[in-house]
Amino acid sequence: MTFKRAFTTKQSVRRAWINATALGVYELMLNGDKVGTDYFAPGFTSYDHQIQYQTYDVSGLIGSENMLIAVVAGGWAAGSFNYVRKNKISADRQAFLCELHLEYTDGSYEIVVTDESWQVSEEGNYRMAEWYDGETYDATVDLGQIAWKQATLTAPRNSPLLLAQYGDPVRAQEEMKPISCTHSPGGEVIYDFGQNFAGVISAKLSGKKNQEIIFRHAEVLVEGELFVKSLRTAKATATYICKEGPQTYSPRLTYMGFRYVGVRGISAEDLQLSALVLHSDFEEIGEFECSNELINQLHSNIRWGGKSNFVDIPTDCPQRDERQGWTGDLAVFARTACYNFDLSRFLDKWLADMRAEQAPGGGLPMVIPRAGDHWPRMATSAWGDSCILVPWAEYLARGDKRLLERQYPTIKKFLKAAKWWSEFLSFTPSSRHVWRFPFHFGDWCAPDETARQWLKKGKWVGTAYFSNSCGLAAQIADLLGYEEDAAYYRKLRSRINEAYRQVFTDSRGNLKKEFQTAYVLPLHFNMTEGTETAVMADNLVRLVREAGNKLTTGFTGTPYLLFALSDNGYPDKAYELLLQEGCPSWLYEVKAGGTTIWERWDALRPDGTVNIGDLSGNKKDEESSGGMVSFNHYANGAVGDWLYRRMVGMEPTSGGYRTFKVAPVLGGGISSAKGSIKTPYGRASSEWSIQDNRFTIHIEVPVSSLCTLSMPNGEQYKLESGYYTFNCEAI
Ligand code: BGC
Repeated sequence: MTFKRAFTTKQSVRRAWINATALGVYELMLNGDKVGTDYFAPGFTSYDHQIQYQTYDVSGLIGSENMLIAVVAGGWAAGSFNYVRKNKISADRQAFLCELHLEYTDGSYEIVVTDESWQVSEEGNYRMAEWYDGETYDATVDLGQIAWKQATLTAPRNSPLLLAQYGDPVRAQEEMKPISCTHSPGGEVIYDFGQNFAGVISAKLSGKKNQEIIFRHAEVLVEGELFVKSLRTAKATATYICKEGPQTYSPRLTYMGFRYVGVRGISAEDLQLSALVLHSDFEEIGEFECSNELINQLHSNIRWGGKSNFVDIPTDCPQRDERQGWTGDLAVFARTACYNFDLSRFLDKWLADMRAEQAPGGGLPMVIPRAGDHWPRMATSAWGDSCILVPWAEYLARGDKRLLERQYPTIKKFLKAAKWWSEFLSFTPSSRHVWRFPFHFGDWCAPDETARQWLKKGKWVGTAYFSNSCGLAAQIADLLGYEEDAAYYRKLRSRINEAYRQVFTDSRGNLKKEFQTAYVLPLHFNMTEGTETAVMADNLVRLVREAGNKLTTGFTGTPYLLFALSDNGYPDKAYELLLQEGCPSWLYEVKAGGTTIWERWDALRPDGTVNIGDLSGNKKDEESSGGMVSFNHYANGAVGDWLYRRMVGMEPTSGGYRTFKVAPVLGGGISSAKGSIKTPYGRASSEWSIQDNRFTIHIEVPVSSLCTLSMPNGEQYKLESGYYTFNCEAI
């Protein structure tokens, strides 16, 4: 929908600004100029509870005769969204709200507001704009020639708070140039941008009136053609209808996840194509590099996974008919993300929606904002544990206790619900707190297994995550001064640990039903005691060996797999898995040409075919639905946390790096590694190298921060702010 309002200024203007928001996503133009640089304003929030508005300084754009135009697409509120493709989730139709403030040089003041003096048309330039299907833009449309109607007033369904923008707006972050331009067998001109990312094309072209150009998008090519089946119902197509002569086009009201663009309707000579990377406007604060180029590429893939999926909210993927705020994906990726990016505003915004959408009984939506999701709000492991894991990761990185304070009631309610469910139908005292019900995703996306098998591992995963969350809740309660709560959560945690031991193991560290994740979680979450720890670690090593030195973990086990090994006496095994190049492994994806992290380890099979997945175990279903495979899902990129915390060896020991430790784990033939973080206290860095069996490390400790350095030979140093170099024999 396009809204317009003409207005005349009474005299010369000293200052002018606009406050605006919409149900849908809007783009504003004043006298033909785009207002602001944001994409997808007002952003995605829990619209029943809160909607952001934006403020733009337009002093420089005002004349005496003015035309204010607002194009509002359906976006998340009124457009087609969610994998079941709902429409009008939060609003019956697009709506726009705006105040234009004019301060005249004589001190007088005027406000132009959205009211019935505005006009609206459905015949504007945008014939279609949707998240999944893309955009159709008709440049021949002259807004002066189309039919306009008087705008009518509408109200949001609920009474959301209108809040000044508090999240990071989505903006164009960089321009990508194609690395090649070829012809597909089917006759499309294929541009390869060399990198999978979220964004839009940007075209400079020379066209004829009514010439139609079609830009299709895909993450991979199969036999030289765009592979779009994995996009499921998403058409991911931008169609541009030209006016006469030289012109430019770049979509404003949609985005795609892609590396390749296929173009029809124009010859390569008449088109200059680039692309804009879009994501929320946060700062990149972490750097990592080591002597192994494949690992460096993995790190790059992890970062691109983050950037592509932090588009106003943390999404699961940027390309197919989903792009939703799946909580579990961020639960496991949050620590890695917070090493790489300053996500304080971004996460604070998302967590506000989580708090608003929690059920009174403590359950949480599986996707936040919930927008059209049909799942009941319930306590479910890993996905629900995001209410603790995400703010905890952010607190460790930035040190802002107020976020924990805000989040604490949500944590308490969630754990209360988890406890209730863990006692449900538990008839023996020993099985109390084995968390089975109501539902767990289990070891989601474990390789070579069906969805049913992932879900069946729910009780091991659920119980271990529950223990970990109680441990973190106790630490949070301590920090906030709730001593009784802290003691309560510690006690509950030891009962959960005992239940895991009693029900799942022989009490000596041997699982009755063995799988890697079921050893990884208790080991990494410190649920084990005495000799049990070493037995579990040995068993894990055996399972890895039996799997051909490969991992068999899904979303919930993978992030902690290398920690479970390296922290329990097997650093070499951790490096062996990290450096594994066969499928499934991180470097398999790198060697197969991946530039982001994949949802399935074998998304691209060794034979070059795409594994479009099969959720139901039903072949027919797989064929018709396009299955479940994305080349840009960050969850398995959670290994980035290990690269910083173990290979570089740097990790906060109190919020915001007020204190931190450096304890590099050597191995895998890695001869140097360095990492740095812009902490709230300043830059912290660690850079080590091995030469002629001599280990040398340079450390940078920011002002007011304290570092404990552990050298490979066991020596320890307490370091105050400053630059240091130490060396010892490399052991
Ligand atoms: C999403 C995942 C998500 C999962 C949960 C998928 O469709 O893409 O990343 O966590 O569903 O079931």
